[in-house]
Amino acid sequence: MDTPPTTPPNPAHPPNSPSSPNLVVFDHPLIQHKLTYIRDFTTSYRPFRALLYQIAGLMCFEVTRTFPTRPVAVQTPLETTSGRKIAGTITVVPVLRSGLAMAEGILEMMPEARVGHLGLVRDEHTLQPKVYLKRLPVDVAAGPVVLVDPMLATGGSASAALTILREAGAKDLRMICLVASPEGVARLHKDHPEVTIYAAALDRQLNEKGYILPGLGDAGDRMYGTG
Ligand code: URA
Repeated sequence: MDTPPTTPPNPAHPPNSPSSPNLVVFDHPLIQHKLTYIRDFTTSYRPFRALLYQIAGLMCFEVTRTFPTRPVAVQTPLETTSGRKIAGTITVVPVLRSGLAMAEGILEMMPEARVGHLGLVRDEHTLQPKVYLKRLPVDVAAGPVVLVDPMLATGGSASAALTILREAGAKDLRMICLVASPEGVARLHKDHPEVTIYAAALDRQLNEKGYILPGLGDAGDRMYGTG
């Protein structure tokens, strides 16, 4: 017999975690439904990418809630009224390579955003993240900046990416990920306490190889069929 369905409370927006005011976890049935398919090891790369794209698009609704807007006049076919447009220019910055599918979903919602790219690898000797690609708009300070990396694991690359964006002039920063670890969240809260993290799930822990448990495996490999 199937387990009876549960109806969650209907908060106006996702609750911030009580222990982390700068962490928003999306306890939303549609996002959780899609995330469950993404976690499933039998989900192949094409549906995996499609689901990631869809979840990122759904997350935008909340991630953009604090975007500044400016009042504008708009002429309808009948009269002039007032409206609001997003102030400034948005920049979406995927961390290569797994940030790409999520960034596409975000761009579907915000097609006017510019896209910066950051490529980071872990240096074999120092174990610190090393930048191999950095292409950012020159005026990254011109509006909100959204860093995109599906797996917030140790937080080392995300922290380095946020530092790069700060040094490039970004003032209004957020991070979107799919799955976060407690260790990654703690690291970002320590290094970048002003940055709000948006995640579809806060998982249990990291394993000894730095993978998130229960997680979904290597996001890049799952996304591109390279595992
Ligand atoms: N990167 C991934 O792709 N998966 C993890 O679990 C951790 C880091």
